[in-house]
Amino acid sequence: MEEITIQTTFVLFQNIEKLPADIQNLMQKAIETRSNAYAPYSNFKVGAAILLKSGRVVLGSNQENAAFPSGLCAERTAVFSAGANFPNDEVVCICISGSSTKKDTLEPVPPCGACRQSLLEYENKQKALIPIYFMGKSGKVIKSPSVRNLLPFIFKEDSL
Ligand code: THU
Repeated sequence: MEEITIQTTFVLFQNIEKLPADIQNLMQKAIETRSNAYAPYSNFKVGAAILLKSGRVVLGSNQENAAFPSGLCAERTAVFSAGANFPNDEVVCICISGSSTKKDTLEPVPPCGACRQSLLEYENKQKALIPIYFMGKSGKVIKSPSVRNLLPFIFKEDSL
């Protein structure tokens, strides 16, 4: 028997002002686009802003449905939109902000497992890491240097 230890490092910023200017700008867009979320069932709104290599910014917010599993998270809405419209434009980084509409979410909101798996596909496709910055409504921001850092023992095409 052998134990496997996986270590990973994240960066914690105390607030959005501590981010580099370009990332702060992108996070501001994620915060703004949160208001476009359609979340009448969970009352939890998430905004995602993706910066592409061309400088384009693609936005996404969660879109819910009365048939719950038919809705989609903000991160996948954004990354699928980027992939569908700009398939050859590399993803440089992603900013995410999520908050309940009932109370202020002050802790960073990381992407869910399904979103991690979907984002990872693009990281693998472009063979370049995608840093992810995530936060709540306000307060601390966490940076993951890549999608794979958020997803040990990843399922990828080699397994097929
Ligand atoms: N949600 C996201 O948009 N991204 C995540 O990574 C986690 C959850 C959305 C899905 C649903 O509309 C609401 O937040 C509550 O789960």
